[in-house]
Amino acid sequence: MDNVNFDVVPVWGNAVATTNRKFDKIDVSKYEYRGAHDDETAAQTSKNVYVLDEPENYYLKMQMNQVVEQYRDEVLGIGNKLEMTSSWISINKKGHSHKQHKHKGVFISAVYYQQVESGRLYFLENKSMLEKVHFLDYDIKHWTLFNSPRWNIDVKPNDMVIFPGDLVHGTEPNESDTDRIVVGANYFIRGITGKDENVTRLVL
Ligand SMILES: [Fe+2]
Repeated sequence: MDNVNFDVVPVWGNAVATTNRKFDKIDVSKYEYRGAHDDETAAQTSKNVYVLDEPENYYLKMQMNQVVEQYRDEVLGIGNKLEMTSSWISINKKGHSHKQHKHKGVFISAVYYQQVESGRLYFLENKSMLEKVHFLDYDIKHWTLFNSPRWNIDVKPNDMVIFPGDLVHGTEPNESDTDRIVVGANYFIRGITGKDENVTRLVL
């Protein structure tokens, strides 16, 4: 597969990268799903959280891995080995949304929009960067990464967004009759990081 082009937004210093490439489709009908027990408008997520380890999804896994490795090389500029640690399908029917959350135990997360007609991905901070300097009620003329504690990412079919999974994120409600179908994956660093001479060696 040829390299992709990334649109990188430094969301409060975090590398949020979007690219668009048509990958293999996952057959969503093969899996069982669950939502939040206390919220009927929450996204339905596959009970299987290793869907890309299924043999029929092998090529999709390889495609996502290749883009994540390109992100690591080009955007992060590091050489550490990354390994996919989990993968799932998230489905939002009309009126449903993925509520704000963050992923524990991840280095980066990747989401692939197999099908989407409505609903942006957003990131949230407790305070904007300006508010972190001085917590004032600023006279905001237009939203920027410096004055906003929320940043929205427009998404379209075949978009893949890569971001640090511990950033608080969510999606706006799906206002379309067409289901929004997202394949997600978490990655963590694998292997040896650091050096004995720096007393930083860590085997993961
Ligand atoms: Fe997420």
